[in-house]
Amino acid sequence: MKGIVLAGGLATRLRPLTRVTNKHLLPVYKKPMIYYPIEAMVRAGIKEVLITSSADHAGHFANLLGSGEEFGLTLYYAIQENPKGGISDAILLGEEFARKEKLLVLLGDGIFNYDLSNAVNRLEQKEKGATVFGIQMPTESGQYGVIEMDESGKVLSIVEKPEHPKSNIAQTGIYMYDERAFEFIHSLKPSERGELEVTDLNNLYVKEGTLSCELLDWWIDAGTSYDELLRANNLVAEKVKAGEFE
Ligand code: DAU
Repeated sequence: MKGIVLAGGLATRLRPLTRVTNKHLLPVYKKPMIYYPIEAMVRAGIKEVLITSSADHAGHFANLLGSGEEFGLTLYYAIQENPKGGISDAILLGEEFARKEKLLVLLGDGIFNYDLSNAVNRLEQKEKGATVFGIQMPTESGQYGVIEMDESGKVLSIVEKPEHPKSNIAQTGIYMYDERAFEFIHSLKPSERGELEVTDLNNLYVKEGTLSCELLDWWIDAGTSYDELLRANNLVAEKVKAGEFE
């Protein structure tokens, strides 16, 4: 399985912090934000990872992360021409890189400690399908993709930022796909907000009955607001000091 970490987007919600600096380079306790998804790739056993970002920031990631040797994996870099093209648009940049292997996709602003290696092995053994990772929110929240699933973990629907959420399970920024993901993305049309949506990709697997969901115990979307960035810093500091996270 190959990995893709997404570090594009405009991060307008975090200006002026992100006027010059890419959001995924902002500090979260002791490390730049992007270290967390890369270290999650290492824990998952992924050896080759593509980092996608816009042209003006790609060099910053290369300066910081280099070949990936420090992490024990090999890093590649790709440029997303339209920084708001959407998550599926960014994934598409990995079509040649993945060369018909399965794929683990992590949004560059998600922080979690869940070990994905079992899920990687499970999907590797399946002929086809995909996996999303959800988190139970304290209340129903329409700011994320919202997942409806049955007791076996089979996903019944995902709705992007719904007005009336059907559950309190939010879709996190962790996705695993079989080799057909690129073929599926080629069939997508931009949404009302002009993006190739990850939720539209995931719903093609839902339609086929092959999308599973696993629930995480904690996950933070560090890049959504000043408050979430602050909460991510505090939570990571707390967990590191308690010896629960590195
Ligand atoms: O964070 C989880 C949520 O991520 C999911 O619950 C939603 O279903 C999913 O659509 C997405 O929601 P947002 O619309 O809030 O994502 P955002 O625009 O904040 O981008 C998430 C990450 O992906 C961020 O690290 C930047 C990167 N990105 C985003 C876009 C739109 C790119 O690299 N390129 C892009 O074109």
